Amino acid sequence: MLKTVAPNAVAAVSEARQWDRLMQMARIGAIPGEGVNRACLTDLDRQARRLLISWAKGLGLGVSVDALGNLFLRHEGTEPGLPPVLTGSHMDTQPNGGRFDGIWGVIAGLEAVQALREAGVATKRPIEVVAWTNEEGGRFAPGCMGSMAYAGFRPPNTWDSVTDNDGLTFGEELRKHLVLESDIPRRGLGVLDGPAPFAYVEAHIEQGPRLEAEGMDIGVVEGIQGSRWFLVEIAGKTDHAGTAPLSLRKDAVQDMVRAITALNRLMEDPTDVLRFTVGRIEVNPNTSNSVADRVRFTIDFRHPEKFVLLQRGDAIAATVQAAMTSCTATVTERFHALPARFESTVPDAVEAAAKAQGLKSLRMPSGAFHDAQFLVPLCPTGMIFVPCRGGVSHHPSEYSEPHQLAAGTRVLTAVLADLANR
Ligand code: GLV
Ligand code: MN
Ligand code: MN
Repeated sequence: MLKTVAPNAVAAVSEARQWDRLMQMARIGAIPGEGVNRACLTDLDRQARRLLISWAKGLGLGVSVDALGNLFLRHEGTEPGLPPVLTGSHMDTQPNGGRFDGIWGVIAGLEAVQALREAGVATKRPIEVVAWTNEEGGRFAPGCMGSMAYAGFRPPNTWDSVTDNDGLTFGEELRKHLVLESDIPRRGLGVLDGPAPFAYVEAHIEQGPRLEAEGMDIGVVEGIQGSRWFLVEIAGKTDHAGTAPLSLRKDAVQDMVRAITALNRLMEDPTDVLRFTVGRIEVNPNTSNSVADRVRFTIDFRHPEKFVLLQRGDAIAATVQAAMTSCTATVTERFHALPARFESTVPDAVEAAAKAQGLKSLRMPSGAFHDAQFLVPLCPTGMIFVPCRGGVSHHPSEYSEPHQLAAGTRVLTAVLADLANR
């Protein structure tokens, strides 16, 4: 095996340049409290992508986009026909999101490639930096649409009729987006149209408290817990709050409360490993003196064990139905990702790079989902985590220090140089 050490490239990683780029990106969709709201396939998303493209073109990288809007920046290898090493993450944010979730992985990929080029380190394989479309699922549910389609996990038209809060469909917004980016060369869609990458590495803030609490610099991610998303819709009948007797009502809010109480019992876990969240509730007509005739609420359920994910997840619909007293309910599953385990190639490379750079690393699972999990069936895959303050994420106060992010990018640079020369 050709073992490549790229110390010059690692030294060429610029903490200041990376931070400056992150702060420039954070202005696009800035919200109070230093947060960012940059939903996918919006003008803000496009503005951020154009900024990224301008940096990539300045470096001489090839830019292309696929049918799902996934954006690729290509650093050519000395053997361009070889499957590339892929790195990246996403540029969309939560509605009340922060400055680092997703975007750092994209900027880190660009910084790593820039460092390799500035240090004159050629790689045998091409390296491609990808910005996946709609990882968050904040505007169109579920998340990870771009990577799921790329990996052939779902057909690319699966989500065409998914609507956002304004009733706009993903299919139509994507079509408009691709027209607006029609000056960018089109490429085939992932493994539907070409070979799998050689490997995939995603850099991301941890989004949890462990690295900081344990004084670690780098998380060597070994896998991602499974996630299932459901939408529950409850239909009842609206009535006057002052006149309709309780015994005659079909109150959708009351049956929602019963359903969530029953789900909480279903999801009880003394080990505190299971994650169960009702994060969004819509009530109609949403006034204080009318009985609600319609409620929609979301379920986000996660667990690292496939058995638990399947057994309890499969019981959700029946639990909701059994809780209805006067209304009717429909339960739709919108996302189903089994727990993913990264084979050792990339985690070992990440661990070795961290050690060589004198950084303290910890092997750990990811509680958040990531595009990386859909690459697992395609190629050796892994992730690099860096600490974030208080473990806070999906919030404007999300924060990692410039030097923590730079350390992660130095590890990424060494890992890319290593993998791209195998
Ligand atoms: C990703 O944003 C997640 O919800 O885990
Ligand atoms: Mn993310
Ligand atoms: Mn996120």
